[in-house]
Amino acid sequence: MKQYYKNVQFKEAIYCLILLCLFSACDEEQDTNEVEGRIVQNFNANWNFQLGEHPEAKNDSIDLSNWRKLDVPHDWSIEGEFSEEHPTKPEGGALPAGIGWYRKTFEVPEDWNNRNVFISFDGIYRNSEVWVNGEYLGKRPFGYISFQYDLTPFIKFGESNVIAVKVDNLAQPNSRWYTGSGIYRNVRLIAKSKIHIDHRGTFVTTPYVSKDSAKVNLKVNIKSSLTDTLKGLKLKSVILDKDGMEIAAHAQEVQMSGKDSLEIAQNFSISNPKLWSPENPYLYTIKTSIHQDGKLLDHTETPLGIRKFHFDAKKGFFLNGESTKIKGVCLHHDNGALGAAINIHALERKLKLLKEMGTNAIRMAHNPPSPEMLELTDKMGFIVQDEAFDVWKKGKVNQDYQTDWDDWYEKDLKAMLYRDRNHPSIMMWSIGNEIREQFDSTGVEMTKELVDIVKSVDTTRPVTLALTENVPEKNYIWQSGALDLLGFNYKHEAYEDLPNRFPDQKFLSSESVSGLMTRGHYDMPSNERRNWPPAHNEEFDGNDDYTVSAYDQVSAYWGSTHEETWKTVKKLDHMAGMFVWTGFDYLGEPIPYPYPARSSYFGIIDLAGFPKDIYYMYQSEWSDEDVLHIFPHWNWGKGETIDVWAYYNNADEVELFLNGKSLGIKSKEGDDLHISWSVEFEPGTLKAVSRKDGQTVLERTIQTAGEPAKIELKADKKEMISDKNDLVYVTVNITDKNGVLAPRADNLLKFEVSGGGKIIGVDNGYQASLESFKGKKRKAFNGKCLVIIQSNGKSEIVQLRVTSEGLESENITIQIKD
Ligand code: GAL
Repeated sequence: MKQYYKNVQFKEAIYCLILLCLFSACDEEQDTNEVEGRIVQNFNANWNFQLGEHPEAKNDSIDLSNWRKLDVPHDWSIEGEFSEEHPTKPEGGALPAGIGWYRKTFEVPEDWNNRNVFISFDGIYRNSEVWVNGEYLGKRPFGYISFQYDLTPFIKFGESNVIAVKVDNLAQPNSRWYTGSGIYRNVRLIAKSKIHIDHRGTFVTTPYVSKDSAKVNLKVNIKSSLTDTLKGLKLKSVILDKDGMEIAAHAQEVQMSGKDSLEIAQNFSISNPKLWSPENPYLYTIKTSIHQDGKLLDHTETPLGIRKFHFDAKKGFFLNGESTKIKGVCLHHDNGALGAAINIHALERKLKLLKEMGTNAIRMAHNPPSPEMLELTDKMGFIVQDEAFDVWKKGKVNQDYQTDWDDWYEKDLKAMLYRDRNHPSIMMWSIGNEIREQFDSTGVEMTKELVDIVKSVDTTRPVTLALTENVPEKNYIWQSGALDLLGFNYKHEAYEDLPNRFPDQKFLSSESVSGLMTRGHYDMPSNERRNWPPAHNEEFDGNDDYTVSAYDQVSAYWGSTHEETWKTVKKLDHMAGMFVWTGFDYLGEPIPYPYPARSSYFGIIDLAGFPKDIYYMYQSEWSDEDVLHIFPHWNWGKGETIDVWAYYNNADEVELFLNGKSLGIKSKEGDDLHISWSVEFEPGTLKAVSRKDGQTVLERTIQTAGEPAKIELKADKKEMISDKNDLVYVTVNITDKNGVLAPRADNLLKFEVSGGGKIIGVDNGYQASLESFKGKKRKAFNGKCLVIIQSNGKSEIVQLRVTSEGLESENITIQIKD
């Protein structure tokens, strides 16, 4: 074994620096003239933007005085005002869409003229068209797919160049949830040698894995756009462990003549591999480089997670030989107050909360996620179901992907597979969600064809689809016989019988629950089960303030309570696991309410990132942490009868006390997932004690709060990097004079920030709030509010001051790191 970095050449070290800079999302473009190998530049900074039609943006020089200057990732929808009139409808978040143009001027160094230059977009919603120096590069309708264009023939080397991007999200409705609009993911400029590793040109698999040894296969695609015969070419790959130590290497001569592309396979053996799992997401890195006569031409990195897994018809899912229940959630792509605009810190915060809940899997509903999301699931340890489509040729709303299906399905599906196949976290490819073609015979051939496409790219993962029809005779997608794994959405009562209906098949609850809740709101009696709405288009008596009880008692009529589905999946070995709809509330789909409701009620965690009570049910079941959570809050009218629930684990019993007086000891019986007491309210302190073998495990208290009096601020980080990208999430609690959370406080809060940060989002998790996510003020909701601060590039301490009439104000400081 040797220390890899000691051996790298100076120029490779510079490349590492560039990569480092890229990953920390630096804004300044590099002076990279001296560098060999691949150059990857962050291309996010300094765009101009205008709403509406601006075809003149393609031209060399135009008057930009009316154009806004901004950095992408950018989502213009989230900046807008809510209105019922927007054609996106409340289902789409009730925010504006339309057309927008982006434009950017950039210099290309003279000495890149012996390179190929590409622009790569991680995602543009939607119908993007791109021009460089007035030349048309192409159109990409699908809003969730990553793509790149070759700029080489049109670039002016050593001069200024212009990129123009039209984004057309006018045709509405085109989604069942909020999409956002614009260049909402990262953009890069890439310069490669004429002989290079192709785009998505490596593919790593682990054909043999055991505790003692693993075999690793790497396929590398090399491409040359030179016409001469190529001599002295060498392809080198090294596998590095987490600490950068080289543990395996392979180098070989390569023969290529002229314009060509070539696939080369490299095989490695690793002894005593550290296996990747959600508990220990150990990642190796493969560095691949191509050299000519000792000179570095191109290089790339491929993540390597060594793991094996399989699904069993009787016993569910196995990871590295161990039976593992998939304890997953579905996630849409928006980041609450940030809209669709991608920010890795926002994603990390979401995943951290889910990890702490005990979640070990994520279903990417219902489209390919950002590349950063998958980097994080690799790194943080989540089993992933990567999903391509919500519709095929038969759509769900007028202007959705059905309009692009014929021309694009194959390209888009392949683009997802080639982009994502090296992520060890991905263990299932889903070719669709609740696809309409399951209900008629067209589903048979289409499924076969799509599965063939997947297998032509990757045979190491099962292909699945989230089905709704669980009667075999009626389900044509199943009748294709092409799926490796049957995902069923909802109808948990039928899970037990699935092996009889579909003999020898493998099963997963691909989507379940659709419970409805508003954080901090409670309707009594808590055991009154409600379907809201009770059936399709049926009226129901909801709450006047568009809230839904946070006791696990309300769901959409096609869903269940959280407890109902988890109890079922938990006891059935043939069910590999479940994906709860959803981990977080998301923008759009505000079932069960009409406008002004504009975001979903399905989340275990609200839109602002504050857990609802049900979070602790999952934590008590899915994690090893000791849990004791009691609710509701303790501010009620004297004499009211209040249902007190407790979620707990790792204990035999819980005793509840009100103002020091015992209300009795309770234990979960049978498959219970919570216990409850009916308590006549009197103000004071409610205390719960969980015990195991007579010893106290945990104690929790809830107190009656007095009038709102103070503001309390809690930042999720003490410091932030001054890279214009890093985020700090500050929770604002409104408390009484003794610091007890005022559980119904809705005071209007005002935010001022100074120094190295700016406010880029505010939220309170209330699904029917029409306040702007981009404002500098916001009402609290049930005692809480959220401020998201982003570093602005200045190296100055950030000060956030929060004020509200009648409340003691509060400041917080955040240090800035360079
Ligand atoms: C499912 C669908 C999801 C979401 C959910 C709401 O049928 O797959 O996208 O709409 O219902 O309950």
